[in-house]
Amino acid sequence: MFKIKLKFLSYMIKNFNELVSDFFNIKMSQHDRKQRFAQIAHKGGLKQTLPLLLTKSISEKNLQKINRAITALLEKYARMVLKKEPICPIIDNLDENFDLLKEMGKKLVGNCLEICEEVKEESKAFHNAVCDAFDELNLHNEIDMIQTPVNLRLKIGDFDPGQEHVYHPLSTSKPHIDIWAGAPASLAICIVELMNDGQGAKIEFSEMSSFPKSLAKIKGSYDGRKITNFFKNFTKNKILSEVGVWNIVDAYTPHQTVYPGRGVRISADFRLSWKDKLVSDFPEHSVPSDFKKYEDRKL
Ligand SMILES: [Fe+2]
Repeated sequence: MFKIKLKFLSYMIKNFNELVSDFFNIKMSQHDRKQRFAQIAHKGGLKQTLPLLLTKSISEKNLQKINRAITALLEKYARMVLKKEPICPIIDNLDENFDLLKEMGKKLVGNCLEICEEVKEESKAFHNAVCDAFDELNLHNEIDMIQTPVNLRLKIGDFDPGQEHVYHPLSTSKPHIDIWAGAPASLAICIVELMNDGQGAKIEFSEMSSFPKSLAKIKGSYDGRKITNFFKNFTKNKILSEVGVWNIVDAYTPHQTVYPGRGVRISADFRLSWKDKLVSDFPEHSVPSDFKKYEDRKL
């Protein structure tokens, strides 16, 4: 017993500086992040729904423009890549086109539609339409880099939660924070639901009351039940994504995909990096290879 105590004591002394600075950084980070989100909300006229979740509706005009771009992209994809004729228009008939969308779903890379040569122009138009809509938020002075092109995701509700939990250890249907999947901590993530037939997947964001050090990294295997219980102790206030509403969070905000039924959801997402770096943005910010300067974002 004495030996163990001694060992523990020497460990504490040896690692004291590191332990204290880690803890301090996380505390700092939580506070600074909230401050930064408050400032951005103020500048962009965004609603700070949670201290670390900003929301604002896309204007009807830009939502229609994006929808037209998605329609053109998906319909050409169906014809050129799948050699199938969609029930037109594809977007207004998500239910009728369910099987076709499911087939497209099989072509997904990390849930994103695989953009191939045949639909290059249409995917460009989609990216640019999303960028135009994002410009409404007036955040150009706040952002230095942005992911290009933006991701177009299809979530098809042919889904068995039990199965996904078994086979995908880092499934998005479990509560998680994106730094676990390697997202740099100083990035923000912007997600917008563009279409949902009412039964399609939603994203549920939650607010953390505190940020325990043990959550900064995920260790060992990801046990969905354990982590759900663990999060229960630290999260409050849950917010669900809505069609046509921007959601901007950072890589520390817990979220998960929830499935109201077996429907279709189409969404866009991209990551961005704030111009103003915080001392507590850690680990070291490294720019992912798919990032472009904000002023060069258009394709
Ligand atoms: Fe995520």
